[in-house]
Amino acid sequence: MEMHDVLHVEVCQKVDSALSRKDVEEVVRTELTSFEEVTLNVSMPGESFSKDIIKSHVESIVCSSNSTERSHMKIQSSTLRVYVYRLTQENAATETIRTDSDDMSASAHWILPSKDFHGLWESLIYESDVKEHLLHFVETTMLFSDRNVDPNIISWNKVILLHGPPGTGKTSLCKALAHKAAIRLAYHYSHGELVEINSHSLFSKWFSESGKLVMKLFDDVKALLEDPKALVCILIDEVESLAHVRKSCTNGTEPSDSIRVVNALLTQLDQIKKYPNVLILTTSNVTEAIDVAFIDRADIRQFIGFPSEQAIYKIYSSCIKELMRTGFVESEILSEMSYLKKLGYEENVETRHSLMLLELSKQSVGMSGRALRKIPFLAHALYTQTTKCTVPRFLRAMHLAIEKQKEEEIA
Ligand SMILES: Nc1ncnc2c1ncn2[C@@H]1O[C@H](COP(=O)(O)OP(=O)(O)OP(=O)(O)O)[C@@H](O)[C@H]1O
Ligand SMILES: [Mg+2]
Repeated sequence: MEMHDVLHVEVCQKVDSALSRKDVEEVVRTELTSFEEVTLNVSMPGESFSKDIIKSHVESIVCSSNSTERSHMKIQSSTLRVYVYRLTQENAATETIRTDSDDMSASAHWILPSKDFHGLWESLIYESDVKEHLLHFVETTMLFSDRNVDPNIISWNKVILLHGPPGTGKTSLCKALAHKAAIRLAYHYSHGELVEINSHSLFSKWFSESGKLVMKLFDDVKALLEDPKALVCILIDEVESLAHVRKSCTNGTEPSDSIRVVNALLTQLDQIKKYPNVLILTTSNVTEAIDVAFIDRADIRQFIGFPSEQAIYKIYSSCIKELMRTGFVESEILSEMSYLKKLGYEENVETRHSLMLLELSKQSVGMSGRALRKIPFLAHALYTQTTKCTVPRFLRAMHLAIEKQKEEEIA
């Protein structure tokens, strides 16, 4: 047991900053230890600090603990772990498959940490430390790999499967996890690579192309894996489609070419599991057992469901804050849910609007994160259409948008 709680401090250094990582770390450490406590899981812009050196060299800082339960942490009683990183600015490199009508993307490749995923982790809201557990799985996996722990004695794994209903953030979470791992494991890896494979495109009717593409894709992946300083993450969305193709083939409803593509893909995945620096991230919309060879029973499966009332409250709050920042909604402080709870949900001038938001959150239980994030847009487009309105007026518009959204879901 550690005596102190660990405070993870992720420092995003400006791209044009010429300071060494060590120097940035020192400056940030000194600054933070002068604070009494910090707010967790929010991005603090470098500009918001008083020291000029931080203003000019730091883009942003995010602090977090090993649990999402808390929102603040005392500095004195914690052990600081500081990670300094820079975001790569390049766009994803894509590999496309040419068909008669159009080009389909077969894979995309990012170098991590990438600007494309900055803030994504913090924007995803789950209960009961789902994100933290996944991150710990990855850290342990990489450590075991590193020290050559024998997988016949202790079974541990390279494959993570996130499954659950559509729109619950599974794909986003995989990307955010790869990005986060690249930041947190920087003492060990010089950078991360993320290769997203679009398995759908591989089963288009252009199988002769697909076969070649799978081989090329994995040649490239293996080349990346040869660099022991690179953490290589492979993302395969909707893995159930692989199992599905196999099944349809045995039923004779799928051309036999496609099974060859699937088998090639699975064989390749089995081979790359041997590498110490690989991590395979997969998602699926079905919850039943997925029959694809490379995911075995020992691998990590995590169910990702619809957000709870509490998570919805946080998601909506973040949306409204964004509209305040951009001037669509008049600025006002919305309370944290834990604060409302502490007051026994008592209504007064300070809590009135927050309690209205809480009502909306209750009304929205059963909706996916994707649907929730659309509500503020619908509310504006259909029910306010003003350049600026008050919080209660906007909340009423959200209420109407939620009703409408629900009606459509039933229809
Ligand atoms: N728990 C959540 N917290 C915050 N945002 C969420 C949450 N769940 C989903 N979202 C938002 O919904 C959007 C869709 O997420 P994403 O595409 O990753 O879902 P998915 O589970 O992969 O969906 P599908 O099963 O349809 O592929 C994202 O932009 C994300 O911001
Ligand atoms: Mg998805």
